[in-house]
Amino acid sequence: MTRRFTITTPIFYVNGAPHIGHAYTSIACDVIARFHRLDGNDVLFVSGTDEHGQKVEQSAKAQNVPPQEFADRISQSFRQMQKDMAVQTDEFIRTTEARHKKAAQTLWEKVAESGHIYLDAYEGWYSTRDEMFVGEDEITTHPDGSRTAPSGAPLEWVREPSYFFRLSEFQDRLLKLYEENPDFIGPHGPKREIISFVKQGLRDLSISRTSFRWGVEVPGDPDHVMYVWFDALANYLTAVGYPDMQDPRHVHWPADVHVVGKEIIRFHCIYWPAFLMAAGLPLPKRVFAHGWWTVEGEKMSKSLGNVLDPKALADEFGLDQLRFFLMREVPFGGDSNFSRRSLITRMNVELANDLGNLAQRTLSQVARNLGGVLPERGTLTEDDEKILAQATLLPDLTRRHIERLAISDALEDIWKLIREANAYIDRQAPWVLKKENPARMADVLRVLVDVIRTVATLLQPYMPDTMEKMLDQLGVETGERHIAALETLLPGGRTLPKPQGLFPRFVEEEKQA
Ligand code: MSP
Repeated sequence: MTRRFTITTPIFYVNGAPHIGHAYTSIACDVIARFHRLDGNDVLFVSGTDEHGQKVEQSAKAQNVPPQEFADRISQSFRQMQKDMAVQTDEFIRTTEARHKKAAQTLWEKVAESGHIYLDAYEGWYSTRDEMFVGEDEITTHPDGSRTAPSGAPLEWVREPSYFFRLSEFQDRLLKLYEENPDFIGPHGPKREIISFVKQGLRDLSISRTSFRWGVEVPGDPDHVMYVWFDALANYLTAVGYPDMQDPRHVHWPADVHVVGKEIIRFHCIYWPAFLMAAGLPLPKRVFAHGWWTVEGEKMSKSLGNVLDPKALADEFGLDQLRFFLMREVPFGGDSNFSRRSLITRMNVELANDLGNLAQRTLSQVARNLGGVLPERGTLTEDDEKILAQATLLPDLTRRHIERLAISDALEDIWKLIREANAYIDRQAPWVLKKENPARMADVLRVLVDVIRTVATLLQPYMPDTMEKMLDQLGVETGERHIAALETLLPGGRTLPKPQGLFPRFVEEEKQA
């Protein structure tokens, strides 16, 4: 039976242009989604834009544009960014769409019907930048008397009528959820943080605002708009056609994993499951928090002028090179630093030298010495058996890493095979065999083609365009590129196209003095 797999990115605020951090989370989910598709699973990959709230309203105002028009424009630039990054989503939810408002309002009604919403007044601190209510105990007071949120964002005092969600009633159920489902939150750091936060006790949560209008109307009380996080989290239900239980996408709920940046785990691991429990809906299976990118050692910020545009980087270095670097540089979950130097090093060492040379050396010898015809598998030596066994084990190893969302560990194991194949080609020296034992040379080249085919097949999710070209050069037909196809040997006798280098070395131009 086909397995269903549902994965989501956070939906992006439309208060500014997309940058490398947004590209990162999108590409990571894309790699996982593509892997599952390649593995024959029925995938739903969801992304979108978070368009309501004070932050977006203020940004639109600052540019003198009506909020809807502003949101239309920036939402489009997020879609374009994902297209530029070869991110293939199945659903892109905009929270200003009618279908989303319906989902958010139905969720509200269900939560209200179960008695978990009451009207009161909120008085306290709010961080617009984080779109978050901040408790007294979380505030830092500075010598000049100003106050900031844990993120460093400025705070304002808010006092207004508000609907509250009875979050305080969910402490035990949430702790039980984390305990009974040890994988619900990953990785360990954020998990510990959430558990200790919940153990300290939960306050009821203000879930509506009356001091501005840019939001989804609260059902039955048009003076209130929903707190932007109530609205935003509901996007995951919009994506599966909620509230229409007959919608064909409905089978994709609950989501297998919500991938999020580590700064928003509280919303996903506490509020979201509590809202769903209150509404009587199934909970997502997992929330996974990834780390943050800094740039050349500094936090990315508009004021520092170091915000990285993913499109410019892809244009300069190549899209697949960029995707590879982002996935390879850091264990998924950890923080990392973006530096041109490390990107160029990885391009030259791992892509150009390790993988590019391996393919080029092998394929150019097939072209030159075998007339470009793929030989049959020959008699295998112990050395051949050893490397082929390593290749045979790789799909399952990679699958297990992807299952754990260990995107960079999967690359590490793929590179182990690549490095082993380079050592094998040096040991076997087919260029020497050419004169001494041409039949053996053909056997060695065939082993190498088979190993490279495994590598290229498994790397498709990471570098879709280049691996398509590599598989073309290996004579692998379109229908033979999924993971299960690796179990069937390519027939000998195919004529391979003329090989071309796929990973040129990158040479940094000398800076003008
Ligand atoms: N709109 C909310 C999410 C709602 S989900 C129901 C939001 N949006 S955001 O645009 O500010 O950030 C979305 C995500 O972008 C982050 O959670 C993170 O995944 C990614 N990143 C933004 N900046 C980043 C870095 N500097 N580094 C890595 N990822 C970062 O929060």
